[in-house]
Amino acid sequence: MIHSSAPGKLMLLGEHSVVYGNPCIATSINKRLDVYLNDKNEHGKELKCTTIDALGIKSKFPSNFEQHKFLNLTIAKFFEKYGHKNFKLTTKPMPKGLGSSSAVVVAGVKALSTLYNLNWSNDEIFKFSYDIVKEGQKGKASGYDIAVAVYGGTIRYENKKGNIHIKKLKNIRNLIAIDTGVKSSTTELVREISEKMEKYGQIFCGIFKIINKIVDEGEKEITDENYKGLGELMNINHGILNAMGLSTYEIENLINGIKPYSYGAKISGAGRGDYIIAICKEQSKNNLMNYLRDVKTEHFEILQDKGVDVEIY
Ligand code: MEV
Repeated sequence: MIHSSAPGKLMLLGEHSVVYGNPCIATSINKRLDVYLNDKNEHGKELKCTTIDALGIKSKFPSNFEQHKFLNLTIAKFFEKYGHKNFKLTTKPMPKGLGSSSAVVVAGVKALSTLYNLNWSNDEIFKFSYDIVKEGQKGKASGYDIAVAVYGGTIRYENKKGNIHIKKLKNIRNLIAIDTGVKSSTTELVREISEKMEKYGQIFCGIFKIINKIVDEGEKEITDENYKGLGELMNINHGILNAMGLSTYEIENLINGIKPYSYGAKISGAGRGDYIIAICKEQSKNNLMNYLRDVKTEHFEILQDKGVDVEIY
């Protein structure tokens, strides 16, 4: 049995701007997506076909279920390049809005490359996974989520027309992920911003220049472990995202509610829902957690996890 896993992600600084070749800073989280790959049945006999068992749905490969889209693509790529094999691929999913699509591709590629004895480096896993995601995604995607799933930890990521730079940064303490309870569509919001860019090209040029500066300063604050400074930059970044139309009344209420306990808080990702990320004041962590419990908001402390991993047993 091959068992691989990859972490989910949250964006710290630079969402949307990263889609246009600018840098961002993102972090892995301590919620992983697991893939189990078995080419034998419980009696040790070889399997007669390939099956997918994911998100509570079982299907023969190729699966007709939209929920299996990325797994279908991943398996098809291996069959096309390295030949057909029979196996059962099972996943243990993680909550939505935390990078499950990128994590399933990365963990799937790791498991399959292990089955095919390809001995791939992380860079090779990244390239293969990103090509699959680009093919499967309708809109533009920067690939930062794939990078986090592969390399783990906190990274600065930049993708200038396919020229990709990934830099590992220090882990950050006291980061809290807060679920807005609303699901948002990254594809639609990326499209919406690209339409606004067409209309207000110069304004967005200026906005992205400021976000670049925020990311550069953010990297310094992370290196210096100056979390007050990092929180200030998160607040500025959030203000810009709000100006771009990516916040909501509910998100603003949530952010205002946690202000007394945090140095900074912002939308993380495409906006209008999914998760908020906050950096809390060292001495206020318990108070923040109690507050979030009182207002019945799902949350967890982010511990930066390792990148993609595999074990064979
Ligand atoms: C979504 O998590 C972040 C965006 O910047 C899209 C992307 O980078 O692919 C909005």
